[in-house]
Amino acid sequence: MKNLVGKVAVITGAASGFGLELARLAAKAGMSVVISDIEAEPLSRAEVEMKSLGAPTLAMRVDVARTDDVQALAAATLARFGVPALLINNAGMAAGGLAWENTAKEWDHVMGVNLHGVVNGVRAFVPHMLVAAKQSVDFEAHIVNVASLAGLQCMPLMSLYNTSKFAVVGFTETLFHDLALMTDQVNVSVLCPGVVPTGISRSERFAPDSNLQATPSQQLVRTLADQGMAQSRVSAADVAKQTMAAVSENRYYVFTHPEELHNIRVRADDQLQGRRPTDPFASLPGVTAYLKKALHTG
Ligand SMILES: NC(=O)c1ccc[n+]([C@@H]2O[C@H](COP(=O)([O-])OP(=O)(O)OC[C@H]3O[C@@H](n4cnc5c(N)ncnc54)[C@H](O)[C@@H]3O)[C@@H](O)[C@H]2O)c1
Repeated sequence: MKNLVGKVAVITGAASGFGLELARLAAKAGMSVVISDIEAEPLSRAEVEMKSLGAPTLAMRVDVARTDDVQALAAATLARFGVPALLINNAGMAAGGLAWENTAKEWDHVMGVNLHGVVNGVRAFVPHMLVAAKQSVDFEAHIVNVASLAGLQCMPLMSLYNTSKFAVVGFTETLFHDLALMTDQVNVSVLCPGVVPTGISRSERFAPDSNLQATPSQQLVRTLADQGMAQSRVSAADVAKQTMAAVSENRYYVFTHPEELHNIRVRADDQLQGRRPTDPFASLPGVTAYLKKALHTG
């Protein structure tokens, strides 16, 4: 989708990180922006900023895990601006720890936000896009579902997050095929970044049970994530820029960390050859030994 001027962008999780940077780019490209987030205060700051950029703006507090909230977001978008040309299902949160340590409540919560949030966005907006496409050959729309490299490779201590992102990757690829059966006017991309410093490092503020103490493995993974973020050479603004370029070029995969893709090939080879999974840290000597030591002594 080349021309964005005067069109409408809907972005979930738009009060921080990738979502906020994407909203900035959409506004600067001359789009009307519908920004939504679960956090009211940062959302109203983002609203002020979008308006100062001259973008017609609708800001709405939405919990993407709640179907009714996302349906209400679609209804409000249609009433104010009409059918959006760009939908970015971005809202998400992190979760870590040994695979058996996340509680049932955490599983429901994180799958609710990271997976059902994306599905809810697609269910609420795509039918309207398909009707608009049928009504006009000039209508074009693009959907970006935000997954992660964690949807393509299985780093240890991340089972809940990995599972949610693998599901987003599978859902989005199937959506790609389903859309192709129906129209060539509505397209989709999947964004798969590596670690980037954003508000995601403070995801515990969304934890469904705030009295729960982090386990040693959960503390370890937070420390490692903080270190990864501190060392990252990719910013949220870079991710947003590459995402908008992919929309413009109608590219399906948006990879912002190309140097980290080797594990995808190793994993595919393991599968094709029926091998046991290769250690994803095999190319980084000492990491697995460090993790074992930290888990056994900590
Ligand atoms: N930062 C990274 O390293 C990284 C890497 C790969 C993928 N991602 C993905 O990118 C997306 C954006 O994350 P980010 O890194 O910009 O983090 P972020 O915390 O800065 O932004 C996420 C936003 O989503 C909002 N949010 C959380 N739960 C919500 C809910 N239930 N309903 C609506 N909004 C909700 C938060 O309030 C926040 O504003 C997420 O899906 C995340 O999993 C992030």
